[in-house]
Amino acid sequence: MDLLSTLALHAAEAEKPLNDPISLPIYQSASWTFRDLDEVDAVYEGRQAGTIYGRNGTPNHRALEALFAALHAAEAAIACASGMSALSAAFLGLLEAGHKVVASQDLYGSTLGVLRDLGRFGVRVTTVDIGDWEGMERELEGARLLVLETSSNPRLRVPDLARLSELAHQAGALVLVDNTFASPYHCRPLEHGVDVVMESLTKFIGGHSDVMLGGLAGRREVLDPVRAVAVRMGFVSNPHECWLGVRGAHTLELRMQRASANALELARFLEAHPKVRRVHYPGLPSHPDHETAKRVLRNGFGAMLSFELEPSRSAVNALLHHLEHVRMALSLGGAHTTLSHPATSSHRFLTPAEREALGLHDGFLRMSVGIENLEDLRADLERGLGAV
Ligand SMILES: Cc1ncc(COP(=O)(O)O)c(C=O)c1O
Repeated sequence: MDLLSTLALHAAEAEKPLNDPISLPIYQSASWTFRDLDEVDAVYEGRQAGTIYGRNGTPNHRALEALFAALHAAEAAIACASGMSALSAAFLGLLEAGHKVVASQDLYGSTLGVLRDLGRFGVRVTTVDIGDWEGMERELEGARLLVLETSSNPRLRVPDLARLSELAHQAGALVLVDNTFASPYHCRPLEHGVDVVMESLTKFIGGHSDVMLGGLAGRREVLDPVRAVAVRMGFVSNPHECWLGVRGAHTLELRMQRASANALELARFLEAHPKVRRVHYPGLPSHPDHETAKRVLRNGFGAMLSFELEPSRSAVNALLHHLEHVRMALSLGGAHTTLSHPATSSHRFLTPAEREALGLHDGFLRMSVGIENLEDLRADLERGLGAV
């Protein structure tokens, strides 16, 4: 009898090791076995730790969730396939037709896009300037959710999280904050009274521009319905990405220390440069939210900054053609220093009027500062700006 096909499926048995590897193995299995129905019930009902199915999350998902919850001192966390999937899961888990969402007008373009999509499902959305207290108070009446970014994309606006959370809670609304730009190194929004913190872990936590991941953290009672939606609708990531996310986070503090120190120096350098019209960095006294940022952010002011050249594509192209180390890449939060151009990428799908209201003209650039040598970065920018 030829047992080849059976052996090919069943012979690769590995003994469970006596001791633990220091790096969690990658559990690359979508399907998990059970001894009997009692075990199925016990795992479904949470009486026994176990894995049901890839979409419910593997040990690698659980590890990333434990890490993200710990970094934010949160009760619970959910790992998702990207920042946008985390946001979408949160919106679909927390909102229903007839609800009203108040959002900062300073948000990542795709977040504004998803909020617009919610209109098709009967959710009303209004956007407000984070500094407009009267407008905030007025709009928050009857709202279910307030959506903010800790350090906004791309103008680096910093909302007073504690004050706004208080205002939202008085109105009966929950507060969700996208903390992607700050990372837990610079801010832990839950400590300011926020209910749900979301991050694109694709960025600073992953840290090496090689994963797509998102995370949500907060109180278990708030996140439970979101987790149910995330599992049912399939917003989950996969074991390998989750493993990379955990691996990236090992060096989060070291990378953030270096990158944010570099960013402060580059912000000062750019602000003094004759070719630069304006720098947006919350660590500069010239930034409108500098005082707020001192309260909201810790360990410095972050690795993201934006700056404005004359409003022309050719000025931007001249700069890009003469840079050696700093390259254009339409993401952020990696170890490399990169530039992006919101008008043609992150905020491309806004109407021209919406872009103009935010000042996102053709000369507006966003920089994700990395961990290279500061002098090399400064020399590179000096060379590039010299060609503008
Ligand atoms: C502030 C912010 N939030 C969310 C996202 C979306 O994250 P992801 O690309 O992982 O879906 C981004 C992406 O650039 C972002 O900049």
